[in-house]
Amino acid sequence: MGRQEAIARSIVLALVNGTQKRARSAWAWILALFSAFFSLYQLHFEKIRPTDFANLRRHHWDVADDAYLDSFRPEGGKKPEESLKATGDMGFSGSTFYATADQKYLVKSVPRHSEHSFFRDDLLTPYVEHMAAQPRSLLVRISDFLESPRLSLGKMLRLAPSHHIVMENIMYGQNEAKARGDVDWEQWDLKPTSYFYPERDIADGRLTSEATKSQLADEFPDKIILSKAQADQLFSSLENDTALLAKYNAVDYSLFLVRIETESGEAGRVADPDQQSPTGQSVIPQDPPAVPPEPPSWRTGVPSSDGKHVYRAAVLDFFWAKHKLQPIFMTFLINAWNLLIHRHGPMSITTTPEEYRQRFLKMCRGYVEVRD
Ligand SMILES: *[C@@H]1O[C@H](CO)[C@@H](O)[C@H](O)[C@H]1NC(C)=O
Repeated sequence: MGRQEAIARSIVLALVNGTQKRARSAWAWILALFSAFFSLYQLHFEKIRPTDFANLRRHHWDVADDAYLDSFRPEGGKKPEESLKATGDMGFSGSTFYATADQKYLVKSVPRHSEHSFFRDDLLTPYVEHMAAQPRSLLVRISDFLESPRLSLGKMLRLAPSHHIVMENIMYGQNEAKARGDVDWEQWDLKPTSYFYPERDIADGRLTSEATKSQLADEFPDKIILSKAQADQLFSSLENDTALLAKYNAVDYSLFLVRIETESGEAGRVADPDQQSPTGQSVIPQDPPAVPPEPPSWRTGVPSSDGKHVYRAAVLDFFWAKHKLQPIFMTFLINAWNLLIHRHGPMSITTTPEEYRQRFLKMCRGYVEVRD
């Protein structure tokens, strides 16, 4: 079994079987311990705070346990690792990214210690409370958090990531749309671009590969056309979400935006669950993994006020916290660079949380055009 399959297998087993413990003899137990230690990629995962995530899913996102597990359970005869499909490396060593076979969920590794410890120790409780209290939050819905608590060689050698999050897939339904022959969905990962990005700004970007540069934030070349009421609600959600992130010191998060062109120019109909013809273009997931709030929402698709597009959006990647050791060190490096070599200003990961929040909100407002 290759590395990606072995990692996928361990994730699926942890999600589907939970933490059932089998009775074992002492000898079998020692053998199992050894084999777990020496298996390089197949780690033993446990759920972090499973009751909190189960509570969010069941009582706030209307996802029944069975429906949730169905996304991960191997279908008749298939192996557990076949429930997850690798959707490419995220760029730096050790990270993995999977989608469930039904496309409803993504599983993403959180390999940096500063990031998974921040989520577990600082942000998790406020995140759970916020998501329960604010159904219109745009923070991406995280439905499970896995860690490998045991000592293992693969973990020590950093061959396999020790932490993963399971989250909703904002692109859900794209495959069906493709199969129907709809216009391709577009997507952008938006961050304020006015910061100093060493990959881009030092020596005109000649020092890093195109692959590294292509992972920098995108710029949206157009406007998001919304009615006044839609825009007000979007900004209210973003204000609330970023206030939480700033309070807990997060920076460098992004707005993931999906734009779906409607053939008929009837975005309102395409995004309305009650007015769908079974054959026509629709973007409402037939069996949505996360319904509340009622569609149209930013998870299912918000129609543009000019009728041409349907949008989805979520705030992603909010695990970079200013007070963690690695971010503090990066801040020190960039300040030293600015002092000694070139005045570039802060990076998105070395600025203050409130400053980042203001630039992020300004960016979002800049992309929206109100047209009633
Ligand atoms: C933002 O928070 C306020 C205060 O908690 C709340 O009244 C409002 O409904 C929230 N906005 C959204 C869009 O959830």
